[in-house]
Amino acid sequence: MHKLLVKTTLKNYNVYVGDNSLEEFRKNLSANHSKVLFLIDKNVFKKCLKIINKILPASKDYHHIIIECSEKNKSIKTVEKVCKYLSNNKFDRKSVLVSIGGGVLGDVTGFCASIYMRGIKCYQIPTTILSAVDGSVGGKTGINFNGIKNLIGTFYQPDGVFVETEFFKTLPRREVISGIGELVKYALIIPKLYNFFLEEIKKIYLNREVSIEVIITSLKIKSEIVNKDEKEETGLRKILNLGHTFAHGFESASDYKLTHGKAVFYGIICALLISERLGLIDNKIITQFLNDFGFINREKFVNQLDTQKIINFMKSDKKNFNGTINLVLVSKSGILTDIPIKEKAVFTTIEKFKKMFG
Ligand SMILES: NC(=O)c1ccc[n+]([C@@H]2O[C@H](COP(=O)([O-])OP(=O)(O)OC[C@H]3O[C@@H](n4cnc5c(N)ncnc54)[C@H](O)[C@@H]3O)[C@@H](O)[C@H]2O)c1
Repeated sequence: MHKLLVKTTLKNYNVYVGDNSLEEFRKNLSANHSKVLFLIDKNVFKKCLKIINKILPASKDYHHIIIECSEKNKSIKTVEKVCKYLSNNKFDRKSVLVSIGGGVLGDVTGFCASIYMRGIKCYQIPTTILSAVDGSVGGKTGINFNGIKNLIGTFYQPDGVFVETEFFKTLPRREVISGIGELVKYALIIPKLYNFFLEEIKKIYLNREVSIEVIITSLKIKSEIVNKDEKEETGLRKILNLGHTFAHGFESASDYKLTHGKAVFYGIICALLISERLGLIDNKIITQFLNDFGFINREKFVNQLDTQKIINFMKSDKKNFNGTINLVLVSKSGILTDIPIKEKAVFTTIEKFKKMFG
């Protein structure tokens, strides 16, 4: 088992990865708390009951709710349901919320924990590759609102993260590939680890082999960035948003038919194309990237998405300022953030991207 200490201004916490991480969860839970509410993803409950049955009795006074998880349910309605349960069952300030699910449930759980009684303890047990290598750490919580992704949310760090890779065995293939999207991001953010991530991604794609090393390396990169800029104030943390403004546009315009990770992968390609258009990188970087990662399967329906609709969603992204689309781009000297881009350039880039997939 590996342990990683995440340091933030308000709280330090440990991430445990691998064998015995759930044993660590039990030890953590035995500390000073009253009731425990487990929020469990419905698919995880169905497919991973054996592991779940080992987790639940970790606490004497535990409750659980099964939640059907999708972007549509990452909503104020789900938050209301959880908060009502907490209130009706007299959960107090020493209560604990635990997420057993992917990034959707992790974001909802963190948000509920941050607002109930002005904040209660929260633990994350991620069950998707995507949430294990990214979403479970860093303290961004949120829900979709008014048709806009992650519009409402808080910065609220968990009290511990416990990654049990057994969960990944039941993931549908599309969710395995979705996890890859966020890993591709790390390959570009830390160029000296490009080949490491490329090889690890191939292993995941071909054999579903998710090494402890790739999880720890990803979370280490993320936690070091979060440690320096927890609330995205200096701009450093924004580099983690590479590809994400395009991704939110693609996801929303597809009515969430496209998974988050796949949308991030496409968003990264668009960010590279626009970076080239602005002369920030040479075309050979894109050629190399597509040669290396071109094996990731393509979703033909993306071509049918309306470009203006994608842009309209991108315009609602909270990273924008004064109505202008602000992007994270790639340059020869590293990742650039907050680059305002004209709508026409975004339009042309998306059209070019679609032609590449035609
Ligand atoms: N807070 C953050 O820093 C952060 C970072 C990245 C992504 N996110 C958010 O995470 C979400 C995406 O997360 P995700 O990709 O985990 O999606 P998800 O939570 O929707 O899970 C994907 C699908 O897999 C199913 N599933 C989960 N675990 C399973 C398992 N072990 N076996 C079988 N099925 C399983 C779920 O029921 C769901 O249908 C997005 O909403 C994104 O905005 C948040």
